[in-house]
Amino acid sequence: MFLRRTILSTCVASALAACSGMAWAQQAKEVKLGYALAINSHYGAAAQAWSDSVEKATNNAFKFKQFPSSALGGERELIEGLQLGTVEAVIVSTGALSNFVPDVGVVDIPFLFRDTAHARAVLDGSFGQDLLGKFKARGLIALAWGEQGFRHLSNNKVAVSKPEDLKGLKIRVTENPVHITAFRTLGASPTPMAWPEVIGALQQGTIDGQENPISVFVSAKLWQVQKHLTLTSHVYAPMALIVSPGFWGSLNDAQKAAFTQGAKAGALASRKFVDEVEKKGVEEIKSHGVQVVTQVDRAAFQAALAPAYKQYASKFGQKTLDEISHAK
Ligand code: PAF
Repeated sequence: MFLRRTILSTCVASALAACSGMAWAQQAKEVKLGYALAINSHYGAAAQAWSDSVEKATNNAFKFKQFPSSALGGERELIEGLQLGTVEAVIVSTGALSNFVPDVGVVDIPFLFRDTAHARAVLDGSFGQDLLGKFKARGLIALAWGEQGFRHLSNNKVAVSKPEDLKGLKIRVTENPVHITAFRTLGASPTPMAWPEVIGALQQGTIDGQENPISVFVSAKLWQVQKHLTLTSHVYAPMALIVSPGFWGSLNDAQKAAFTQGAKAGALASRKFVDEVEKKGVEEIKSHGVQVVTQVDRAAFQAALAPAYKQYASKFGQKTLDEISHAK
């Protein structure tokens, strides 16, 4: 009798365990996370830290599924995917973002930030946090600012060292009005193009160059398609960790906190990755035969951009530009 009871209760216990295992498997909500670059890039580092943090904090109530290397489309499609609810989470540059959240364009102004510390302080401070808050009205929930580094110019025609060298160069730019204005003002021929098309266009010679941080140049092995790189540091490039409003609305407060904390961990991981890649990236790029111009006359570029700065001031307000540039 005792034996029968023990066997019976063991059976019930195992059935319950199997059931709860199944329930766990069923309950783990899949979070599709899309981004443009490879898994071993600063994007991948952010994505991994974000997923690990959320999965741990929620006791695996969520399971991230990463879609690196533009597998879900270019950045514009990723952002639209969030609005449509076909993807739960993305990490994107500000390239296409200001078409959705126009106020974001202000961070894309050339030579606005003195250095990385300045940019991080502004984005982590009240200005950057308020900017994240502006995404909501545009159907997006932005949780943190990650980083790509400062953008530099590369091309196949000329070793650029002064603004005049840009004359007539066909430079791929992101679909970003602030960047387009800057390169047009400098005398280049800016060609807005989604990232997934860029390498092919450089190979075919339909464009001469592009501009991106060292982190992107290394991750995408742009030495295979570019001869010259100039360390212009013309624009600081953040990236945003964003979730879809529909998905956000389905979370309880504790889960929202886990996603926000996780996004912050992801942002930090991207900054750490960028710090590392910037230490040795230029040497690696040189080792692949790219001619690198390391010094440019920043003041000459700023002077050549004077007409563009007038447009930026009327679009974003001189007060805002001053507030950012004077921030410590
Ligand atoms: O140049 C761009 O479009 C972006 O910097 C990239 C490469 C997609 C990374 O976000």
